[in-house]
Amino acid sequence: MISNKITTGLNGNPIIPGDKSISHRSVIIPAISKGTSEIKNILKSEDVLHTLKAFEKMGVKIEQFDDKILIHGNGLNSLNKPNSDIYLGNSGTSARLLIGLLASQNFDSTLTGDESLSKRPMGRIAEPLKKMNAKIQTTNGSLPLQIYKSKLNNAEIDIKIPSAQIKSGLILAALNTDGITKITEHNITRDHTEIMLKDFGANISFTKEGSKKIIKIIGKKELESNNINVPSDLSSSAFFIVAGLIHKNSKLILNNININPTRNGILIALKKMGAKINYFNKRKINSEQVCDIEVVSSELNGCNLDGDIAKLMIDEYPIIAVAASFANSPSIFRGLEELRVKESDRLELIKINLLNCGVECKVENDDLIINPSKNFQIKNNNIITNYDHRIAMAFAVMASKIGLLKIKDGESINTSFPSFITEFNKIGGNIN
Ligand code: S3P
Repeated sequence: MISNKITTGLNGNPIIPGDKSISHRSVIIPAISKGTSEIKNILKSEDVLHTLKAFEKMGVKIEQFDDKILIHGNGLNSLNKPNSDIYLGNSGTSARLLIGLLASQNFDSTLTGDESLSKRPMGRIAEPLKKMNAKIQTTNGSLPLQIYKSKLNNAEIDIKIPSAQIKSGLILAALNTDGITKITEHNITRDHTEIMLKDFGANISFTKEGSKKIIKIIGKKELESNNINVPSDLSSSAFFIVAGLIHKNSKLILNNININPTRNGILIALKKMGAKINYFNKRKINSEQVCDIEVVSSELNGCNLDGDIAKLMIDEYPIIAVAASFANSPSIFRGLEELRVKESDRLELIKINLLNCGVECKVENDDLIINPSKNFQIKNNNIITNYDHRIAMAFAVMASKIGLLKIKDGESINTSFPSFITEFNKIGGNIN
């Protein structure tokens, strides 16, 4: 993919597709509920399609139409043993959530993934599940991974790693387990699973104790089908928000964006940097907070972000690093260790690619320090992505300001945002 500089501003109303996290859950939860659920605005990207195919392989009837999908679920124990390995491509969310769900099923299964997913840590979900008597065999802590049928028992589990995927995998396991499972999350992370399960009638409750969240699930209660309208993805919209901010003479309107407070760190951080972002039509859809967003060109200041906010914007560091490169003072983003185990080692790739774009930047321990550039002397215009969609999109936005960048493996954007290039070019971008 080649992204070029643009000379005029960005203007218009790009269409942001359905939220990736909610889309995965909009397949998984209806598939184990009783009855037919109608899902609108689901993200049809590679990652979500892997989740969808996994359930078709396990016998769930899913009908796809242009404007909706219908999922015909048959209950917590209705999945069939897959007749071959379940391949999940690049999708960490599919892997972690399915490991939890399949650990509680009455059959053996094997999960595999692409080269990048096969390097990502799965012990973080397999180990806590073992406390519930799950029988899981990883390959050196990663995929390929075998799940052997086992009767799970309820347990009290502490999650120290800030991860919604671990939490969600455990909750899905607990749904099909007798008794009360208590999960303590030491760092509050995105809560789409809890929100959706409540709407589907699960016996789930939560309380907050300081910075901790305690989730209780009483298992074996069948879920009831429900209709879902997936809101648009704040993480995908972040590429457009930053592009609108850093280009002069720009004004963008983004509709129907999910602003769940466990996900909105990027908006808080950009405001802190002086971004002109306005919110309209705040409303709730399927118990998720949604609004329309207006972004106009802004002079940005650098900012310091501590590790606490990282949990609320973990996917947005590639693009906020681009925003920080155009600010009028340095930025320090702290506590980014989780970025090392994403679709790539994002901390390293942000640093290497920013340095190649002529931005002074360094990583100290797990902190990212960015000294904005005035003249962007490109040292190497080949952007390395290691097949990471968010690195690819962030540097496409970078190129729209500084000039031609060749983005390796740009097709990785299909994992989360297949229409990114079309939408970016529609508002004045220049990507081919
Ligand atoms: C996700 C959780 C986050 C995020 C990922 C989607 C989810 O991962 O990075 O893109 O849908 O639960 P972690 O749980 O590993 O932080």
